[in-house]
Amino acid sequence: MTTVSKEAAGPAPAGPGTGSGPFLSVRDLHVRFSTEDGTVRAVDGLSFTLERGRTLGIVGESGSGKSVTNLAVLGLHDPRTTTITGEILLDGRELTGAPERTLEKLRGNKMAMIFQDPLTALSPYYTIGRQIAEPYRKHTGASKREARERAVEMLEKVGIPRPRLRADDYPHQFSGGMRQRAMIAMALVCDPDLLIADEPTTALDVTVQAQILDLLGELQQEFGSAIILITHDLGVVANTADDILVMYAGRAVERGPVREVLGAPRHPYTWGLLRSMPSLRSDPDAALHPIPGTPPSLLAPPSGCPFHPRCAFPPEVPGGPERCARERPELPEGRGAACHLTAERKRELWAAGGRPPGRGDGRGAWETPRTSGTGSGTLGVPRPGRGESDR
Ligand SMILES: Nc1ncnc2c1ncn2[C@@H]1O[C@H](COP(=O)(O)OP(=O)(O)OP(=O)(O)O)[C@@H](O)[C@H]1O
Ligand code: SF4
Ligand SMILES: [Mg+2]
Repeated sequence: MTTVSKEAAGPAPAGPGTGSGPFLSVRDLHVRFSTEDGTVRAVDGLSFTLERGRTLGIVGESGSGKSVTNLAVLGLHDPRTTTITGEILLDGRELTGAPERTLEKLRGNKMAMIFQDPLTALSPYYTIGRQIAEPYRKHTGASKREARERAVEMLEKVGIPRPRLRADDYPHQFSGGMRQRAMIAMALVCDPDLLIADEPTTALDVTVQAQILDLLGELQQEFGSAIILITHDLGVVANTADDILVMYAGRAVERGPVREVLGAPRHPYTWGLLRSMPSLRSDPDAALHPIPGTPPSLLAPPSGCPFHPRCAFPPEVPGGPERCARERPELPEGRGAACHLTAERKRELWAAGGRPPGRGDGRGAWETPRTSGTGSGTLGVPRPGRGESDR
């Protein structure tokens, strides 16, 4: 299978019935859970947009709100314990507060999700073919026979050998990679306009991972779907997505075109993510550089910039370090980062390796990695100090 060139693909033409705005528009989204311990502010004022035919990569450490955001788009949170405010417009239609009946019609039909673990999404009691055919029948009114044919066709499309025969298998008779493909077939059976893939390849080995990502790209070209790809792997985003949204503590801290964000990141958290990635081309004995500390509790998120308890750069901020603990930096529209550092200082700091000034001894969490060669990291992700210049 061939890798689809995202730049060549570009945004697909808008389909019939499309509003004038972006295909998916999320504005000032807040998702809160009521728990015995208090209110969890899992998503706190998140905004982003996505066009048809484009892929948005969402990255961030565990607990940053990636899955909660997308489950909110699909309307899959328990309304008894979840409060959702803000705007989620899909093709101009408001999803926040929409009745369950409306969301049910849209799920699987207009929007679909590929989950991290296929075993949780596939029922062990029904054949693979039936599980793909059922949503098709439900959403299109097709006959059993037509739906079965459609399921076989989809299994063939996702690369399952002898699909007519294998459609009668149960999930346990499929390998992990095949189950993932079957789940993709299930998600795509109604040609959804929006596909959300939540860590779709984490459990797979690297070869199968590449095949699945190629497959998503090919299917996107065929159906013109908008894709949200949630992953921990910046290399996957570098190779697959058009745009990237970096999340921290339920907020977007940086966003923009993938090449710009990974080539010239503007947020200390993004620098930390890039510095913590292993590189195929770096010295194998070189230490990795994890971001110090842990993500904050969302029961009581830090004041000001949520990253300030872990950030080494507040002394560089105009107005003094206490500004970071006091004042919440806003994320500007379009390409940008939510950080009080000046644009010029961000450029200088990134060019110097994304580490605090005066720590060039190669020790500690923020030292410059010992890179060699072209400065490109795993799967083409740039290393600190080697990217394109900030604009
Ligand atoms: N139903 C819930 N009730 C209470 N808290 C929740 C609930 N669902 C998620 N959370 C909390 O919301 C936060 C964001 O969770 P989310 O699952 O979106 O993280 P994530 O970025 O997807 O992480 P990962 O990379 O580990 O999948 C976490 O602190 C999580 O514990
Ligand atoms: S605003 Fe301050 S604490 Fe937040 S990322 Fe920028 S420098 Fe660090
Ligand atoms: Mg998740």
